[in-house]
Amino acid sequence: MNVLVIGSGGREHTICWSLAKSPNVDKIYCLPGNGGIAEIAECVPISVMDFDAILNFVDSHKDIQLTVVAPDDPLAAGLVDRLEERGHRAFGPRANAAIIEASKGFSKYLMKKYGIPTADYQEFDDYGAAVEYLAKAKYPLVVKADGLALGKGVIICNCKEEGLQAAKEMMVDSKFKDAGKKVIVEEFMVGQEVSILSFCDGKTIVPMVNARDHKRAYDNDEGLNTGGMGTFSPSAIYTKEIQDEVLNNIILPTVDAMNKEGRTFKGVLYFGLMLTDSGAKVVEYNARFGDPETQVVLPRLKTDLCDIFNAVIDGTLDKIRFEWSDDACVCVVMASGGYPESYQKGKEISIGDIDRDILLFHAGTAVKDGKLVTNGGRVLGVTALGKDINEARAKAYKAVGNISFDGAFYRKDIGIKK
Ligand code: AMP
Ligand code: GLY
Repeated sequence: MNVLVIGSGGREHTICWSLAKSPNVDKIYCLPGNGGIAEIAECVPISVMDFDAILNFVDSHKDIQLTVVAPDDPLAAGLVDRLEERGHRAFGPRANAAIIEASKGFSKYLMKKYGIPTADYQEFDDYGAAVEYLAKAKYPLVVKADGLALGKGVIICNCKEEGLQAAKEMMVDSKFKDAGKKVIVEEFMVGQEVSILSFCDGKTIVPMVNARDHKRAYDNDEGLNTGGMGTFSPSAIYTKEIQDEVLNNIILPTVDAMNKEGRTFKGVLYFGLMLTDSGAKVVEYNARFGDPETQVVLPRLKTDLCDIFNAVIDGTLDKIRFEWSDDACVCVVMASGGYPESYQKGKEISIGDIDRDILLFHAGTAVKDGKLVTNGGRVLGVTALGKDINEARAKAYKAVGNISFDGAFYRKDIGIKK
């Protein structure tokens, strides 16, 4: 079958790469795609939020039998619903289920109502009430914008001044536009973070192998929060015991809760977890594959991804036999100087001699005048498999050493923590 993937990052490149391995996939289209995706898919420059153009494209390409919606914004805005209304097959949650990511207020309400472990919280849509609370609260605490804010709407505040400043930026200065009109003020959790992506058809949920992200820009978790500077899978801290606890206390109850709310979730449900002294707790839900978690999870998947997508849509996930490689995988993100704040685009990327088994997932790249250039903050996810994390790590960093562009930077400690 021919498949259309919506999106343009490293996650989408990895999804396209995984689909391209399927004997069932003939041709892949990607809107808008990037410089790397263009090597395996036909990329068409249509923005992920231009629903009319996307619907016209799918209507007029009768050969497309499946559309995979990967990014959060079009999922939250109902692209899957719109495709389905027009009679197209689409992979991803409908808007009424994607809200589990799109509104932190909703996700906290859900967890509280159904007893799913998470940080205690208060919700404010009145600035005066937020100020009153933040002036007397215990610190550290976390102030979060309710809506989608490109992963930047979470501020960890160590004192009253920081708390008040965060609330002002979100609620008064509208730093995140409407996404910050309402804020969540959360207890600060201490522990190790791990990401669990899972396939869910509304009845059956299948967790994928675990992954750990590195959100801060610089080594030793210093610098600003980013979309993710690198990942590895698996992590030894996610023991079998914790895995069972998470399945029973978090994963299954979440699927159940969404069904009870009339918001059946079909797609990839991502659990951002904090492993605390008092058990695993949810930091956040995402209604999609994580980026750059996908870059280290899908290379370990041996089962046909296209079969899985179809099973999720058809509600037959229980019939799929999942197989995962025992190999470890490490992804090192090479970013543009200045990211996650302002950075320049259009820098030529030079790729020297890199081993054939390196997976070079493009995030922000484009081809201009026949040359590969930077086109985003996160540019490349240099990914390697190995018999263990150390081997995968060494291979990935060796390749990173042979890739360059003006202003490139990357973390040197991906995969060092457990
Ligand atoms: P989120 O976008 O909700 O995943 O938050 C981004 C990052 O902020 C998380 O990956 C955590 O590192 C951190 N964070 C968010 N909420 C909390 C919390 N309640 N306690 C401690 N750290 C948090
Ligand atoms: N890596 C975190 C995310 O995709 O939201």
